[in-house]
Amino acid sequence: MKYLIIMLLMLNFKGNSAYRPVYLLHGIMTGSLSMELIKERIEELHPGTIVYNTNLFSGWSSLESMWYQAQQLILDIKNITDQHPEGIHLLGYSQGALLARSILQAYPEHNVRNFISLSGPQAGQYGTKFLHLIFPGLVLEEAYELFYSRVGQHTSVGNYWNDPFHQMLYRNFSQYLPFINNELKSTRSAQFKYAITKLNKMVLIGGPDDNVITPWESSQFGFYDDTMTVINLMSRDLYKEDSIGLRTLDESGRLDLITVPGIDHFMWHLNVSIVDNYIIQYLD
Ligand SMILES: *[C@@H]1O[C@H](CO)[C@@H](O)[C@H](O)[C@H]1NC(C)=O
Ligand SMILES: *[C@@H]1O[C@H](CO)[C@@H](O)[C@H](O)[C@H]1NC(C)=O
Ligand SMILES: *[C@@H]1O[C@H](CO)[C@@H](O)[C@H](O)[C@H]1NC(C)=O
Repeated sequence: MKYLIIMLLMLNFKGNSAYRPVYLLHGIMTGSLSMELIKERIEELHPGTIVYNTNLFSGWSSLESMWYQAQQLILDIKNITDQHPEGIHLLGYSQGALLARSILQAYPEHNVRNFISLSGPQAGQYGTKFLHLIFPGLVLEEAYELFYSRVGQHTSVGNYWNDPFHQMLYRNFSQYLPFINNELKSTRSAQFKYAITKLNKMVLIGGPDDNVITPWESSQFGFYDDTMTVINLMSRDLYKEDSIGLRTLDESGRLDLITVPGIDHFMWHLNVSIVDNYIIQYLD
Protein backbone atom coordinates (compact mmCIF):
# COMPACT_ATOMS: atom_id res chain seq x y z
CA MET A 1 0.00 0.00 0.00
CA LYS A 2 2.80 2.35 0.98
CA TYR A 3 4.56 1.64 -2.30
CA LEU A 4 1.42 2.17 -4.28
CA ILE A 5 1.06 5.61 -2.76
CA ILE A 6 4.67 6.42 -3.52
CA MET A 7 4.18 5.25 -7.09
CA LEU A 8 1.08 7.35 -7.45
CA LEU A 9 2.95 10.33 -6.05
CA MET A 10 5.72 9.74 -8.55
CA LEU A 11 3.28 9.49 -11.43
CA ASN A 12 1.65 12.68 -10.28
CA PHE A 13 5.04 14.37 -10.02
CA LYS A 14 5.84 13.31 -13.57
CA GLY A 15 2.56 14.80 -14.67
CA ASN A 16 3.39 18.09 -13.05
CA SER A 17 6.83 18.26 -14.57
CA ALA A 18 5.55 17.74 -18.10
CA TYR A 19 6.97 19.87 -20.86
CA ARG A 20 5.30 23.16 -21.58
CA PRO A 21 3.27 23.45 -24.78
CA VAL A 22 4.96 24.88 -27.85
CA TYR A 23 3.40 27.22 -30.38
CA LEU A 24 4.89 27.15 -33.89
CA LEU A 25 4.59 29.95 -36.42
CA HIS A 26 5.41 29.24 -40.08
CA GLY A 27 7.16 31.47 -42.62
CA ILE A 28 5.95 33.53 -45.56
CA MET A 29 3.95 31.87 -48.38
CA THR A 30 3.77 28.56 -46.51
CA GLY A 31 1.69 27.15 -43.68
CA SER A 32 1.63 24.63 -40.88
CA LEU A 33 2.71 21.77 -43.17
CA SER A 34 6.14 23.35 -43.46
CA MET A 35 6.53 23.10 -39.67
CA GLU A 36 5.41 19.48 -39.32
CA LEU A 37 8.93 18.12 -39.13
CA ILE A 38 9.76 20.34 -36.16
CA LYS A 39 6.47 19.39 -34.51
CA GLU A 40 7.07 15.68 -34.93
CA ARG A 41 10.64 15.88 -33.72
CA ILE A 42 9.62 17.77 -30.58
CA GLU A 43 6.96 15.14 -29.87
CA GLU A 44 9.51 12.40 -30.41
CA LEU A 45 12.17 13.87 -28.14
CA HIS A 46 9.77 15.26 -25.54
CA PRO A 47 6.83 12.85 -25.48
CA GLY A 48 3.62 14.37 -24.24
CA THR A 49 4.39 17.90 -25.39
CA ILE A 50 1.35 19.64 -26.85
CA VAL A 51 2.50 21.36 -30.03
CA TYR A 52 0.23 23.97 -31.58
CA ASN A 53 1.17 24.34 -35.22
CA THR A 54 -0.92 27.19 -36.54
CA ASN A 55 -2.08 27.40 -40.13
CA LEU A 56 -3.39 30.94 -39.71
CA PHE A 57 -2.08 33.36 -42.36
CA SER A 58 -0.73 30.62 -44.58
CA GLY A 59 -0.07 31.04 -48.29
CA TRP A 60 -0.94 34.40 -49.80
CA SER A 61 -2.49 35.65 -46.56
CA SER A 62 1.02 35.63 -45.08
CA LEU A 63 1.49 38.84 -47.09
CA GLU A 64 -1.13 40.71 -45.08
CA SER A 65 0.21 43.49 -42.92
CA MET A 66 2.24 42.42 -39.91
CA TRP A 67 0.07 44.28 -37.41
CA TYR A 68 -3.10 42.68 -38.74
CA GLN A 69 -1.55 39.23 -38.55
CA ALA A 70 -0.22 39.90 -35.06
CA GLN A 71 -3.61 41.08 -33.78
CA GLN A 72 -5.39 37.99 -35.08
CA LEU A 73 -2.72 35.58 -33.88
CA ILE A 74 -2.82 37.11 -30.40
CA LEU A 75 -6.45 36.00 -30.11
CA ASP A 76 -5.39 32.45 -30.91
CA ILE A 77 -2.39 32.49 -28.57
CA LYS A 78 -4.45 34.07 -25.79
CA ASN A 79 -6.93 31.21 -26.00
CA ILE A 80 -4.12 28.72 -25.69
CA THR A 81 -2.21 30.43 -22.90
CA ASP A 82 -5.44 30.80 -20.91
CA GLN A 83 -5.46 27.00 -20.77
CA HIS A 84 -1.78 26.82 -19.84
CA PRO A 85 -1.03 29.09 -16.90
CA GLU A 86 2.34 27.33 -16.56
CA GLY A 87 3.41 29.13 -19.73
CA ILE A 88 4.23 28.11 -23.28
CA HIS A 89 7.21 28.34 -25.60
CA LEU A 90 7.00 30.22 -28.87
CA LEU A 91 9.00 29.33 -31.98
CA GLY A 92 8.77 31.23 -35.27
CA TYR A 93 10.54 30.61 -38.53
CA SER A 94 11.59 33.31 -41.02
CA GLN A 95 8.88 36.00 -41.27
CA GLY A 96 7.06 33.99 -38.59
CA ALA A 97 9.96 34.63 -36.21
CA LEU A 98 9.62 38.38 -36.57
CA LEU A 99 5.86 38.14 -36.36
CA ALA A 100 6.14 36.01 -33.22
CA ARG A 101 8.42 38.55 -31.58
CA SER A 102 5.98 41.39 -32.25
CA ILE A 103 3.12 39.24 -30.96
CA LEU A 104 4.94 39.11 -27.62
CA GLN A 105 5.39 42.86 -27.68
CA ALA A 106 1.81 43.63 -28.61
CA TYR A 107 0.55 41.26 -25.90
CA PRO A 108 2.58 42.17 -22.81
CA GLU A 109 0.37 39.96 -20.59
CA HIS A 110 1.82 36.96 -22.41
CA ASN A 111 3.14 33.99 -20.47
CA VAL A 112 5.65 32.88 -23.06
CA ARG A 113 8.69 31.46 -21.33
CA ASN A 114 11.21 30.88 -24.09
CA PHE A 115 11.06 32.54 -27.49
CA ILE A 116 13.03 30.96 -30.31
CA SER A 117 13.63 32.89 -33.51
CA LEU A 118 14.67 30.56 -36.31
CA SER A 119 16.28 32.67 -39.03
CA GLY A 120 13.94 35.64 -38.73
CA PRO A 121 14.58 39.13 -40.17
CA GLN A 122 14.55 40.73 -36.71
CA ALA A 123 16.33 43.89 -37.85
CA GLY A 124 14.65 44.00 -41.25
CA GLN A 125 15.46 42.81 -44.70
CA TYR A 126 17.31 44.28 -47.68
CA GLY A 127 18.26 41.73 -50.30
CA THR A 128 17.49 40.71 -53.86
CA LYS A 129 17.07 37.00 -53.34
CA PHE A 130 14.35 37.42 -50.76
CA LEU A 131 12.70 40.22 -52.72
CA HIS A 132 12.48 38.12 -55.85
CA LEU A 133 10.88 35.20 -54.05
CA ILE A 134 7.76 37.29 -53.73
CA PHE A 135 8.17 40.26 -56.07
CA PRO A 136 10.21 38.90 -59.00
CA GLY A 137 9.86 42.12 -61.00
CA LEU A 138 11.20 44.51 -58.38
CA VAL A 139 14.70 45.92 -58.45
CA LEU A 140 16.43 46.00 -55.06
CA GLU A 141 17.40 49.68 -55.25
CA GLU A 142 13.89 50.70 -56.29
CA ALA A 143 11.80 48.50 -54.01
CA TYR A 144 11.62 51.27 -51.42
CA GLU A 145 9.42 53.30 -53.78
CA LEU A 146 6.74 50.64 -53.48
CA PHE A 147 7.30 49.58 -49.88
CA TYR A 148 7.60 53.05 -48.36
CA SER A 149 4.17 54.11 -49.46
CA ARG A 150 0.66 53.70 -48.14
CA VAL A 151 0.01 50.79 -50.48
CA GLY A 152 3.35 49.12 -49.73
CA GLN A 153 2.64 49.18 -46.03
CA HIS A 154 -0.32 46.88 -46.64
CA THR A 155 2.13 44.04 -47.25
CA SER A 156 4.14 42.25 -44.60
CA VAL A 157 7.33 42.62 -46.61
CA GLY A 158 6.90 46.39 -46.81
CA ASN A 159 6.50 46.46 -43.05
CA TYR A 160 10.01 45.14 -42.46
CA TRP A 161 11.80 46.33 -45.61
CA ASN A 162 14.78 48.23 -44.25
CA ASP A 163 16.59 50.09 -47.02
CA PRO A 164 19.88 51.44 -45.61
CA PHE A 165 19.94 54.17 -48.27
CA HIS A 166 16.46 55.51 -47.51
CA GLN A 167 16.29 55.60 -43.74
CA MET A 168 14.34 58.83 -43.64
CA LEU A 169 11.59 57.37 -45.81
CA TYR A 170 11.70 54.20 -43.75
CA ARG A 171 11.07 56.16 -40.59
CA ASN A 172 8.40 58.27 -42.24
CA PHE A 173 6.47 55.47 -43.84
CA SER A 174 7.13 52.14 -42.17
CA GLN A 175 4.37 51.47 -39.69
CA TYR A 176 5.87 48.40 -38.14
CA LEU A 177 9.60 47.69 -37.81
CA PRO A 178 10.79 51.10 -36.52
CA PHE A 179 8.06 50.88 -33.88
CA ILE A 180 8.60 47.34 -32.62
CA ASN A 181 12.35 48.02 -32.53
CA ASN A 182 11.67 51.29 -30.66
CA GLU A 183 13.64 53.30 -33.22
CA LEU A 184 10.61 55.58 -33.18
CA LYS A 185 9.12 56.28 -29.79
CA SER A 186 5.42 55.80 -29.35
CA THR A 187 2.98 55.45 -26.48
CA ARG A 188 3.64 51.71 -26.69
CA SER A 189 7.45 51.83 -26.53
CA ALA A 190 7.63 50.98 -22.83
CA GLN A 191 5.24 48.08 -23.30
CA PHE A 192 7.23 46.77 -26.28
CA LYS A 193 10.32 46.63 -24.10
CA TYR A 194 8.66 45.27 -20.99
CA ALA A 195 7.14 42.35 -22.91
CA ILE A 196 10.61 41.27 -24.07
CA THR A 197 12.26 41.59 -20.66
CA LYS A 198 9.64 39.21 -19.23
CA LEU A 199 11.05 36.31 -21.21
CA ASN A 200 13.02 33.57 -19.50
CA LYS A 201 15.09 33.19 -22.67
CA MET A 202 15.34 34.66 -26.16
CA VAL A 203 17.16 32.43 -28.61
CA LEU A 204 18.25 33.86 -31.97
CA ILE A 205 19.32 31.21 -34.47
CA GLY A 206 20.82 32.13 -37.84
CA GLY A 207 23.84 31.60 -40.02
CA PRO A 208 26.11 32.95 -42.75
CA ASP A 209 24.94 30.53 -45.45
CA ASP A 210 21.27 31.46 -45.14
CA ASN A 211 21.16 33.19 -48.57
CA VAL A 212 17.72 34.71 -48.00
CA ILE A 213 17.80 36.76 -44.81
CA THR A 214 19.98 39.71 -45.83
CA PRO A 215 22.17 40.52 -44.11
CA TRP A 216 22.03 37.15 -42.38
CA GLU A 217 23.01 38.94 -39.15
CA SER A 218 19.49 40.39 -39.11
CA SER A 219 18.49 37.01 -37.65
CA GLN A 220 20.41 38.21 -34.56
CA PHE A 221 19.42 41.89 -34.78
CA GLY A 222 22.53 42.96 -36.72
CA PHE A 223 22.04 45.24 -39.73
CA TYR A 224 23.68 47.42 -42.38
CA ASP A 225 24.76 50.96 -41.65
CA ASP A 226 24.48 53.56 -44.41
CA THR A 227 27.64 52.25 -46.11
CA MET A 228 26.33 48.67 -46.21
CA THR A 229 28.71 47.59 -43.46
CA VAL A 230 27.05 45.08 -41.19
CA ILE A 231 26.94 46.20 -37.56
CA ASN A 232 26.42 43.39 -35.09
CA LEU A 233 23.77 43.61 -32.42
CA MET A 234 26.16 44.43 -29.58
CA SER A 235 27.49 47.49 -31.45
CA ARG A 236 24.08 48.87 -32.40
CA ASP A 237 22.15 51.53 -30.49
CA LEU A 238 19.29 49.06 -30.20
CA TYR A 239 21.53 47.09 -27.84
CA LYS A 240 23.62 49.85 -26.29
CA GLU A 241 20.57 51.91 -25.39
CA ASP A 242 18.66 48.77 -24.43
CA SER A 243 15.79 50.01 -26.61
CA ILE A 244 13.77 46.79 -26.47
CA GLY A 245 15.38 45.03 -23.53
CA LEU A 246 17.95 42.92 -25.36
CA ARG A 247 20.80 44.18 -23.20
CA THR A 248 18.72 43.48 -20.10
CA LEU A 249 18.21 39.92 -21.31
CA ASP A 250 21.87 39.53 -22.21
CA GLU A 251 23.22 40.88 -18.93
CA SER A 252 21.10 38.41 -17.00
CA GLY A 253 22.11 35.45 -19.18
CA ARG A 254 18.80 35.27 -20.98
CA LEU A 255 19.86 36.02 -24.57
CA ASP A 256 21.39 33.21 -26.62
CA LEU A 257 22.78 33.92 -30.08
CA ILE A 258 23.35 30.73 -32.04
CA THR A 259 25.22 30.84 -35.34
CA VAL A 260 25.16 27.71 -37.49
CA PRO A 261 27.15 27.71 -40.75
CA GLY A 262 26.19 25.58 -43.74
CA ILE A 263 22.42 25.93 -43.45
CA ASP A 264 20.41 27.34 -46.34
CA HIS A 265 17.34 29.37 -45.45
CA PHE A 266 14.99 26.63 -46.65
CA MET A 267 16.67 23.99 -44.51
CA TRP A 268 16.38 25.45 -41.01
CA HIS A 269 12.95 23.91 -40.47
CA LEU A 270 13.59 20.76 -42.50
CA ASN A 271 16.69 19.48 -40.75
CA VAL A 272 16.03 17.47 -37.58
CA SER A 273 19.54 18.02 -36.31
CA ILE A 274 18.71 21.73 -35.92
CA VAL A 275 15.97 20.73 -33.50
CA ASP A 276 18.22 18.19 -31.78
CA ASN A 277 21.27 20.43 -31.44
CA TYR A 278 19.88 23.92 -30.95
CA ILE A 279 16.16 23.95 -30.12
CA ILE A 280 15.02 21.07 -27.95
CA GLN A 281 17.08 22.12 -24.93
CA TYR A 282 14.95 25.26 -24.61
CA LEU A 283 11.63 23.44 -24.64
CA ASP A 284 11.50 22.46 -20.98
C1 LIG B 1 -11.12 31.27 -28.45
O1 LIG B 1 -11.91 30.44 -27.63
C2 LIG B 1 -13.27 30.75 -27.67
C3 LIG B 1 -13.98 29.89 -26.64
O2 LIG B 1 -13.51 28.56 -26.66
C4 LIG B 1 -13.79 30.52 -29.09
O3 LIG B 1 -15.15 30.87 -29.17
C5 LIG B 1 -13.01 31.41 -30.05
O4 LIG B 1 -13.41 31.15 -31.37
C6 LIG B 1 -11.55 31.15 -29.90
N1 LIG B 1 -10.82 32.12 -30.72
C7 LIG B 1 -9.79 31.79 -31.47
C8 LIG B 1 -9.17 32.89 -32.25
O5 LIG B 1 -9.37 30.64 -31.55
C1 LIG C 1 9.94 62.82 -43.55
O1 LIG C 1 8.99 63.55 -42.78
C2 LIG C 1 9.47 64.82 -42.39
C3 LIG C 1 8.43 65.42 -41.45
O2 LIG C 1 7.13 65.28 -41.94
C4 LIG C 1 9.68 65.68 -43.64
O3 LIG C 1 10.17 66.95 -43.27
C5 LIG C 1 10.70 64.99 -44.53
O4 LIG C 1 10.84 65.70 -45.74
C6 LIG C 1 10.27 63.59 -44.83
N1 LIG C 1 11.36 62.93 -45.56
C7 LIG C 1 11.16 62.01 -46.47
C8 LIG C 1 12.37 61.49 -47.14
O5 LIG C 1 10.05 61.60 -46.74
C1 LIG D 1 21.67 19.81 -40.95
O1 LIG D 1 22.17 20.52 -39.83
C2 LIG D 1 23.47 20.14 -39.43
C3 LIG D 1 23.83 21.00 -38.22
O2 LIG D 1 22.97 20.72 -37.14
C4 LIG D 1 24.46 20.36 -40.56
O3 LIG D 1 25.74 19.90 -40.17
C5 LIG D 1 24.00 19.62 -41.79
O4 LIG D 1 24.85 19.94 -42.86
C6 LIG D 1 22.58 20.05 -42.14
N1 LIG D 1 22.12 19.34 -43.33
C7 LIG D 1 21.56 20.00 -44.33
C8 LIG D 1 21.11 19.15 -45.47
O5 LIG D 1 21.42 21.20 -44.36
